[in-house]
Amino acid sequence: MATQSGITIAGPNEPYTIVNDISRPTPGPKQALVRCLAVGINPVEPLQHHTGLLISEWPAIIGSDCAGVVLEVGSGCERLKPGDYVYGCAPLGQNKFTPFQDAFLVEENVFLKKSDNLTVEETATVGAGLLTAGLCFLAGMELKLSEDGTRAPEKDEWVVILGGTGTVGQFAVQIARACGYKVLASCSPSKASAAEKNGATATFNNRGPVDEQLAEIKKITGGNFARIFDSTAYGYDIMVKALETCSTATTKYLTSVDDWSPFNTPSTIKEYRAELGHLCRLNEPIGQTVTKEIASWIPTFETHLAAGTLKPIEYQLGDGVGWESVIRGIQDLEAGKAAKKIVVRIQDE
Ligand SMILES: NC(=O)c1ccc[n+]([C@@H]2O[C@H](COP(=O)([O-])OP(=O)(O)OC[C@H]3O[C@@H](n4cnc5c(N)ncnc54)[C@H](OP(=O)(O)O)[C@@H]3O)[C@@H](O)[C@H]2O)c1
Repeated sequence: MATQSGITIAGPNEPYTIVNDISRPTPGPKQALVRCLAVGINPVEPLQHHTGLLISEWPAIIGSDCAGVVLEVGSGCERLKPGDYVYGCAPLGQNKFTPFQDAFLVEENVFLKKSDNLTVEETATVGAGLLTAGLCFLAGMELKLSEDGTRAPEKDEWVVILGGTGTVGQFAVQIARACGYKVLASCSPSKASAAEKNGATATFNNRGPVDEQLAEIKKITGGNFARIFDSTAYGYDIMVKALETCSTATTKYLTSVDDWSPFNTPSTIKEYRAELGHLCRLNEPIGQTVTKEIASWIPTFETHLAAGTLKPIEYQLGDGVGWESVIRGIQDLEAGKAAKKIVVRIQDE
């Protein structure tokens, strides 16, 4: 059996080890084998490293955001063929699907095909952010992107996004704008330009006291919002209070990336939490739902990214090429040294 290089972890908190003896997986039906060209680093990598979250086999190979080129396809593939450039977010915790190795498998219906206007590195910024924001807005808050990649006509209504500068938050701002809403995003004041570049109409300080943040939401939106999304996992109480005390809507929506804390949302508010970690876990009901929803949005996302209505986010390229750079990238993220999303080139084309 062919072997390849990559990064393995023997168990929770064990060191990252660069190895050359990983078995190269073979694509099954509707799967493609993809040569890993670039990865984006997400907070879930250190989380999985320290806790073993969602890891189903040890030694584990991890990784989430990725971009590469198709080497071969399994039977019944209709969307992908050898030579196609693809990108997306790998299903977590199953070694054959994770990108910290020379080549990995993708389920063809949950990955995007790269359009010519995008670089490989840019596409490595997209997967988890776009899919998570998609879950919260398209599934959780009943928004719809146009089929043809155009921006919806402007609506006189706000969407509030807690955290408009992170990976998920930047795609959330873009989706809400593409759906025609005015966007009020919270962020560290020094980072407001990142939210604005993605289309935020206005911003406020996410580190101020709760009462100050609520007053800003009320003042800027005039109460004209029904939807609030927390992309940070710090904002649940603010979401509930904002909807209860500032919003004038009759139907109210609260969505969050936080799928682990206890919530006690009033029955007057529709609640939704993203569970991207269950992508392609088809033995679980939530995995089936998430996978089916994401597969149904992939063609629309591709159209919007080709049209430039949705865009990759700004990134900083990791020093060097390959697995050692990936390990440094994860350590830089953990140490708070990343000013932008970190992307690492893995190998040449
Ligand atoms: N459930 C799911 O399916 C799912 C999927 C993807 C991600 N996630 C989770 O979503 C979260 C965000 O992921 P990401 O990749 O977007 O991370 P990220 O790029 O690191 O962004 C972090 C965000 O949190 C904000 N933030 C940091 N500390 C804060 C604080 N003390 N108070 C208020 N806001 C604060 C940051 O705002 P400023 O920098 O502007 O201050 C930024 O908007 C992570 O917890 C991740 O694990 C969950």
